[in-house]
Amino acid sequence: MGRKPSTRTRALFTTDRPHRLGRRRIGRVPAPIVYCISGPNLQLLGVREPSIYGTTTLAEIHQMLEARGAELGVEVRCFQTNHEGAICDLLAEARTVAAGVLLNAAAYTHTSLAIFDALKAVGLPCVEVHLSNPEAREAYRHASVVAPACKAKVAGFGADSYLLALDGLARWLQKQAAPR
Ligand code: DQA
Repeated sequence: MGRKPSTRTRALFTTDRPHRLGRRRIGRVPAPIVYCISGPNLQLLGVREPSIYGTTTLAEIHQMLEARGAELGVEVRCFQTNHEGAICDLLAEARTVAAGVLLNAAAYTHTSLAIFDALKAVGLPCVEVHLSNPEAREAYRHASVVAPACKAKVAGFGADSYLLALDGLARWLQKQAAPR
């Protein structure tokens, strides 16, 4: 009888397996940490303009990210703040803790030189995330001040934008760790 094909996602980072040097076990590989930072008014997801942002709450998005991270072998730490400086503080903290960042800077996307500077200073790979597609909306949302400091962008897929951004970042990190 043939083996049933597995329906489980293969973890990109096999953190459960001991790391070996030849036959010698030299310890476990820690799961890479990803910071997910959401900016102003995103705590209101679920009730905020559902025709644009959907009905999924930020708490639900965080749960989905943590679950998807566990499948991928990545530890996702989620934060939300309404304050520009607090986003800069979190990015500075991420520098010493995280391998990468998912950032939905919300309205600060379009205005914040401080967040752009923090991203440049920290130098971590960052994926810019948006639930809506700002470029298909009002003209004042078309420009992203933070985009030139980001590795990639995912926008327009609602709550799935966060999950797709995590998948993309995890794949990219895995390739950096084990280039072919
Ligand atoms: C947003 C888009 C921004 O233009 C807006 O200010 C937000 C949310 C999004 O996720 O679609 O607050 O970042």
